[in-house]
Amino acid sequence: MHDLPRKAVIPAAGLGTRLLPATKAQPKEMLPLVDRPAIQYIIEEAVTAGLNDILVITGRSKRSIEDHFDKSVELETYLEANHKFEELEIVRSISDLAEVHYVRQGEPLGLGHAVASARQHISNEAFAVLLADDIISENHPILPKMMELYGETECSVLALMEVPSADISLYGCVAYEEVKDGVVTISQIVEKPDPEEAPSNLAVIGRYVFTPNIFSCLDHITPGRNGELQLTDAISLLLEEQPVYGCLITEGRFDVGTKIDYLKAIVELALMREDLGPAFKEILQEIVSKMN
Ligand code: UTP
Repeated sequence: MHDLPRKAVIPAAGLGTRLLPATKAQPKEMLPLVDRPAIQYIIEEAVTAGLNDILVITGRSKRSIEDHFDKSVELETYLEANHKFEELEIVRSISDLAEVHYVRQGEPLGLGHAVASARQHISNEAFAVLLADDIISENHPILPKMMELYGETECSVLALMEVPSADISLYGCVAYEEVKDGVVTISQIVEKPDPEEAPSNLAVIGRYVFTPNIFSCLDHITPGRNGELQLTDAISLLLEEQPVYGCLITEGRFDVGTKIDYLKAIVELALMREDLGPAFKEILQEIVSKMN
């Protein structure tokens, strides 16, 4: 068993144009899902998987991310003085969550460029990348399985999900061979293919474990789809050097990158909550019955 990664990279420097105007002055990673910003779910997931060193790739208008994971002395003093101990505990637990570091991307030139900005912090270790657009339910974790597969193979691992062929042009897509139930080896990867040209209907979801070799591949990519430096193109180069595996996720993934999916995710996440779910369900049923 090889040493497991300890570091996670969370790219959060994108412009979030699909969620405008909400993202004009606010990072999309800070948009709330029920009562927590999306990026908090992501950091909690990373920490649960044993990744305690977190590097967030930030850019302009991203100060609120740093504030959220920093100590808030003023707020803590107020809560303590007013005996709001439950709230105090919640606030403290956020800043105690992990060792969070930040690096600026400068210009949002694409996801590949964002990951390349992590090079100095990561150095020569394997690491995970988690995208805040994809929320994965704690009931169906995929990252521990990916880390385990890395431990067995010392190769990069991507999270994959089957999607309807009509949707494949929204994702990176892979050609693969099955190794065992839920695990594949990847032979080809393409970014946002037309459905008729897609090699399969397995889409890449926002969780990755990379060997440090990804950095030299990132050095060699040129602007691809949408003029962006695409992580997919670097993975394609990595495939020429070493095997890349895929771990399949079948449920518990919520897309929060577009308005309609964001709404759906909030409803589903709220329904899953023990404290809010039952009351929220009644409200939804009332709304639906009025619609009928
Ligand atoms: P997306 O392409 O989903 O994010 O990238 P975006 O560009 O912000 O969104 P739209 O398409 O304009 O609505 C996935 C993740 O990668 C980050 C984003 O912040 C997001 O979390 N990202 C993307 C960067 O950090 N830098 C980039 O240059 C691009």
